[in-house]
Amino acid sequence: MRPFVMSAAPELHFGTGSVESLHELIRARGWRSVLLVISKSALDQPEIRKGLLAALDSVGIIHRTYRYDRVPDGLNAFTAPRGPYREPTPDVVDAIVAHERSGCAEPGAWAPAEAVVAVGGGSAVDTGKAVSAALKHPHSISEYLEGVGTRELTGAKIPFVAVPTTAGTGTEATKNAVLSKVGEDGFKKSLRHDRFIPDIAVVDPLLQMSCPAVVTAASGMDAIAQLLEAYVSTDANPLTDALALEGLASAGRSFIRAVERGDSDVDARVGMAYAAYLSGRCLANAGLGVVHGLAGPAGAHSAAPHGGFCGILLAPATEMLVERLVLRRDSAGTLDKLATAGRVLTAGGAASTEAHIQMLLDRLSEFTRLGGLPRLRSYGFTESLVQQVAREGNSKSWPVTFDESERVELLNRCL
Ligand SMILES: [Fe+2]
Repeated sequence: MRPFVMSAAPELHFGTGSVESLHELIRARGWRSVLLVISKSALDQPEIRKGLLAALDSVGIIHRTYRYDRVPDGLNAFTAPRGPYREPTPDVVDAIVAHERSGCAEPGAWAPAEAVVAVGGGSAVDTGKAVSAALKHPHSISEYLEGVGTRELTGAKIPFVAVPTTAGTGTEATKNAVLSKVGEDGFKKSLRHDRFIPDIAVVDPLLQMSCPAVVTAASGMDAIAQLLEAYVSTDANPLTDALALEGLASAGRSFIRAVERGDSDVDARVGMAYAAYLSGRCLANAGLGVVHGLAGPAGAHSAAPHGGFCGILLAPATEMLVERLVLRRDSAGTLDKLATAGRVLTAGGAASTEAHIQMLLDRLSEFTRLGGLPRLRSYGFTESLVQQVAREGNSKSWPVTFDESERVELLNRCL
């Protein structure tokens, strides 16, 4: 066995109703003032608006709420709309931090936040994760982003609690927050440090019951992509392999049910929440593949949401991988892994390696079709954008390096 490293994991509170004890977790840690970063859809949920906020009040914990898709407007104003933002931007993180600092600098205005709690989808959780770090770093957060800024992160942050309301990015288990700026000079880059893994993750599948089918499908396919890419990654290790197969099995049982009747099928939500958490553990330790290697520039230059983009690419990317592997002599190990992934995802019985690989490809295509994921043209992709995204993308830890022309071919299969 090759030597390997596993990063720390958050303290995980998983299960239906787990958010009901969040205020007690905060109190037990001695945090008297918390900064909440919340998505609008999470704020609309009774478990959050009437449950969490009232529970914090009941135990005397001060809380200030920010919407991740809006920016503060002056010291005393709450928030002013300036969006909606699809994905978190450095501007929003900087604005929340500036607002906090100006409030803390004014005598008697408010007590500094002792922890950040983010409740929402991957975008809200990433915003909260970045804010918890930005509060301990003096410059604009964009100056610390990989490939954008040149300043070095110290790893300092204030404690951070992640409460996901979608099952997708797995950011509740990862050490990075993804921030984007869309446009000609756009980027989609990570703020990454081992110490940015959330201190606590509260994964309550009941918070995901009202997630719309289209978001359930896109975020679920993101999780499945992360599991499969980590499983076949050149940086995989035996522990990430075990976690990835566990996640694929759970997603295989749950994905279609969560998409088709997610408002009533609690078990399906539990299964996808579990798969998403595991996908975060896997990607943080084994890395990802060509799907996510293209998702960065796609997010920087198009309106394609992360999950929708990853979801539409996953089946063709896997198909192209198989096509290339069968032409090589040294690829038996990866083909075996793809067969295992197919057997686990479909809960299939005994069959040949080829049959299990075909089952994997068929099931991924079925998930894409049943999830109703739009093709890339609907996000404004053109031939020239395909060229640009392929040029700026890479294969990450995909077991076969796709060169630029192969990345073009992959994107063209999804137009
Ligand atoms: Fe992802």
